[in-house]
Amino acid sequence: MTGSSVQSPITVHLPHRIAFGVGTFGRLQESLSISRFQKIFILSAPATREAAQQIADQLRPSGKTSIIWSDITTEPSITTFLTAARVATDFSPDCVIGIGGGSVLDVAKLIAALWTDPARIHDVFGIEKLDRRSTHLICIPTTAGTGSEVSPNAILLDEQENLKKGVISQWLVPDEAWCDPTLTLTVPSAFTAAVGMDALVHCIEAYANRFSHPMVDAWAIEGVRLISSSLKQAVLHGRDLESRSRVMLGALYGGMCLGPVNTGAVHALAYPLGSEFKVAHGVSNSVLLTHVMRFNLPSVEKKYADIALAMGVTAQKTERLTAEQGLEFLSNLSREIGIPQSLSALEVPQDAIPRMASAAMKVTRLLERNPRPVTYEDAVHIYQQAFL
Ligand SMILES: [Fe+2]
Repeated sequence: MTGSSVQSPITVHLPHRIAFGVGTFGRLQESLSISRFQKIFILSAPATREAAQQIADQLRPSGKTSIIWSDITTEPSITTFLTAARVATDFSPDCVIGIGGGSVLDVAKLIAALWTDPARIHDVFGIEKLDRRSTHLICIPTTAGTGSEVSPNAILLDEQENLKKGVISQWLVPDEAWCDPTLTLTVPSAFTAAVGMDALVHCIEAYANRFSHPMVDAWAIEGVRLISSSLKQAVLHGRDLESRSRVMLGALYGGMCLGPVNTGAVHALAYPLGSEFKVAHGVSNSVLLTHVMRFNLPSVEKKYADIALAMGVTAQKTERLTAEQGLEFLSNLSREIGIPQSLSALEVPQDAIPRMASAAMKVTRLLERNPRPVTYEDAVHIYQQAFL
């Protein structure tokens, strides 16, 4: 296992402004009113349309123009992007705002980078294929999970190939991220559970990663501590602002890990579940989490023991035993917050295993980061375990 040396070079791209805390959303609106921006394109989902409208209303007295586009579904596709981009091209914004969950933020990021030439979307899938972004970009998460507000990633579904494709570029890191936990108070419990587990997986996979780094470890382990201690309360008592705030901060830390270190085999094996069976990203990650961790355990006993201790597990005689207690904690947490526990519960057929394993093996950009090498046979075995 490599990684975690303080001598290892690392570069981190983050927004130049990250505003976090209760009441932040109101301050953003004030800040926008006195900003240099004149034409503001606001992307939202139907559920966040009202908050988008608040921004537009606040801008009107200062003579700025804004339009809202809120036709973004949970699985944005290339068509979704191109439709939004046509509206943006007609409007010529100098500032793009995304307000919503990860899907909205991902589309907003791509619009800000590509609205002058949307057809380029087909050329920029992959790593660092963008060379600039000239439009200011502000992201306002309304769920606590994906970390898109601070990450260089955006994912779209390519309907032709029925494949989720990612654009990963420093030019997709927003200029500003405004994170107000108040905006997450009305997120339904099942959604809170799924996106919260996704955030926890970001932290776990960044901490126990072949490319982990002490700088990022600090965010990852604190994210584990915050989310593991508060997610259950945030799911079961959605109006509890303290637990919502703790989960949102943990998710922010998880997002900060994505650019410099990224995730591993849990995410790689989860992608085929999303593409083929439309399982929500957080749910597929959660179902696979402990099975991948059990597979990885021989390579990362110390790291998994650290994670277990950060989750409040009592130290056992050996690191391995402590780590195993951590796996137990994670299984219990996902059960208690109502996430399905197996692939059969998600109605994924057993005969899909070979093609899911083949699809997962193509996600090399994440598999190569996993602390233990994963072969096709290993992937088949992990999926089989996740059926039981
Ligand atoms: Fe994720």
